[in-house]
Amino acid sequence: MTEQKADTTRLQRFARAYCESAVLFAAIDLELFTHIAHGADTEQELSRAMGITALNVERMVAVALAMGLIEWDGKTLCNAPDTARFLVKGEPRYAADWLMFTRPSVPEWFRLTEHLKRKEAPVTLGMYEDLTVEEARKYHAATYSIGVGAGKRFSRLVDLSKRRKLLDLGGGSGAYSISAVQTFPKLRAVVLDLPPVTEVTKEYLRLNGVEDRVTTLPGDFTKTAFPNDVDAVVMASNLPIYDDEVIQLVVSKVHAALLPGGEFHLVGEMINDDRRGPLDAALWGMNEAICHSGGKTHTIAQCIGYFKQAGFAKISDEVFVPGTLHRVTGLKAG
Ligand SMILES: C[S@@+](CC[C@H](N)C(=O)[O-])C[C@H]1O[C@@H](n2cnc3c(N)ncnc32)[C@H](O)[C@@H]1O
Repeated sequence: MTEQKADTTRLQRFARAYCESAVLFAAIDLELFTHIAHGADTEQELSRAMGITALNVERMVAVALAMGLIEWDGKTLCNAPDTARFLVKGEPRYAADWLMFTRPSVPEWFRLTEHLKRKEAPVTLGMYEDLTVEEARKYHAATYSIGVGAGKRFSRLVDLSKRRKLLDLGGGSGAYSISAVQTFPKLRAVVLDLPPVTEVTKEYLRLNGVEDRVTTLPGDFTKTAFPNDVDAVVMASNLPIYDDEVIQLVVSKVHAALLPGGEFHLVGEMINDDRRGPLDAALWGMNEAICHSGGKTHTIAQCIGYFKQAGFAKISDEVFVPGTLHRVTGLKAG
């Protein structure tokens, strides 16, 4: 067998991957997908709708087609299934807030080397240190635009019909709790998050008409005492913000607070035990270098270890969102 000689193709791709982010951001700014959905399906019409020259439309269409963001039948253009669902303004699942959320971090990512050379002790709460209500509102407009789908998926996959009270740790907009109480009529929920955030959580609870069934608990889940009447706990999408020690502490606090027979679901950006991915989960860990927190990526086996150490009896795990989120579940002995 002849050995394949290494070439530079993939290295070149990585070296210029930022161009793809920039094209996506510009396409969202110019509302490319919204205009196409509203009937501007030729380059000429797009030039008029987006207010840019024919030459620049040609450039944009060439890249968007190559990235698979739009499709072309030789005559007219249409959106790809994901851009049609998530990037057309006015559609219920419009997720531009989330997709643009990390854009302000671009300059810091290009200073990653300097960030990695820092030696000072990390700040405990990373990007959440000194968060204002206004910043929390902006942040959770972004997490809500994607969290609604994740919350619905959680309620589809996890049967909480026999549970009475769910504790949602770092629940943000409350997306998981809102969907859970809407799915399971007997369930109540409490969202624990930092004080500026719970102000915003209340707005989403009102928006969804569930403020009578979901309450908020302002606090820090590493320090605040958990309610002692909960039979289900979820913690979603904040795993990489913390190191092993903090996650172990929180998982142990959950075990201690849960009623006997209760369940805990840790939904997080975990990497596989062979550490070959998912890349997205590893990158969220790297993001913490920029936030200067003590956080990092955790493997699935490490997360299972936190549950074992805390004393959970029955532990299982499964992919939650392929390529990004994994779910580890533990039951407290009855
Ligand atoms: C990426 S958001 C996830 C929100 C929600 N779980 C979801 O999936 O839509 C992470 C949340 O964790 C919260 N958080 C981080 N550290 C926290 C802490 N120590 N105590 C309470 N909340 C915390 C943040 O304020 C933020 O709302």
